[in-house]
Parts: sequence; structure tokens; C-alpha cells
Amino acid sequence: MDITHIEHLGIAVKSLDEAIPYYEKVLGFKCYNIEEVADQKVRTAFFRVGQTKIELLEPTSEDSTIAKFIEKRGEGIHHLAFATNGVADALAEVEAKGIRLIDKAPRRGAEGLNIAFLHPKSTIGVLTELCEDPNKK
Ligand code: CO
Repeated sequence: MDITHIEHLGIAVKSLDEAIPYYEKVLGFKCYNIEEVADQKVRTAFFRVGQTKIELLEPTSEDSTIAKFIEKRGEGIHHLAFATNGVADALAEVEAKGIRLIDKAPRRGAEGLNIAFLHPKSTIGVLTELCEDPNKK
């Protein structure tokens, strides 16, 4: 497994408009990108904190997994994303170690990253994302 750093923390929020001012005005970060990811039914907002990012996730539909997460658990940390040098290889490796996968193959996430999720039932309760920047190769 070739994990280089924590790429981002995903945080579920009801409203980007309400959440962004906290990150900007209280914590002093600058939102540098807002992007809708249609197939995940979310709008995302990004902040840089060193080489790690914070990804705010706002549901765009009631059947979004983020809407369901907020309904069940409230707003808060939703997933932890590790940067790797090869998502497909990493998936094969963890699957061979008995970890349940949500995504059998990498797909395209926000910011043009290749991403895949591991099932929280296999990761001690933390929804875990593996990602790679295809432009860094
Ligand atoms: Co993410």
C-alpha cells in the first residue's frame, strides 16, 4: 500500500452557504473551488490546509447518500481520504486482505481525482476513500 498523505477530510453539511463562512471567517481558510458532482448528488467546496484539504459536501437531492448521512447522524465528518500512487493497485491489495469495497474500480471524483471507497464495515467505522491525481503521474 502506497499511501502518501491524507488528501482530504470529507465533511457533510446541510448548506455550503452556511458552512463556508465558518471555515473562511473563523478558521481563516479560503474556499478555492466549488463543484457539483452530479453522480454523487453533492455540491462540494474545498479548502487547503497544508497538503491536506477539507471537502465540504452538501446534498443536492434528498436521496443523496450525504442527505441520508445527515438525517441519521447529523452534520459532521463523513469520510477520510488517503492519497495513493495507484488506486486500482491499492483496491486490489486491500480486497486481497479481505476488505469490503464500495467501488470495485476507480471512478472520477471531484477535482478530477480517481477515487474509490472502502466499506466502513471493514474499516473500523471510518468510511475510507482512496484517491490519486491522474495528472501527477
Ligand atoms: Co472525498
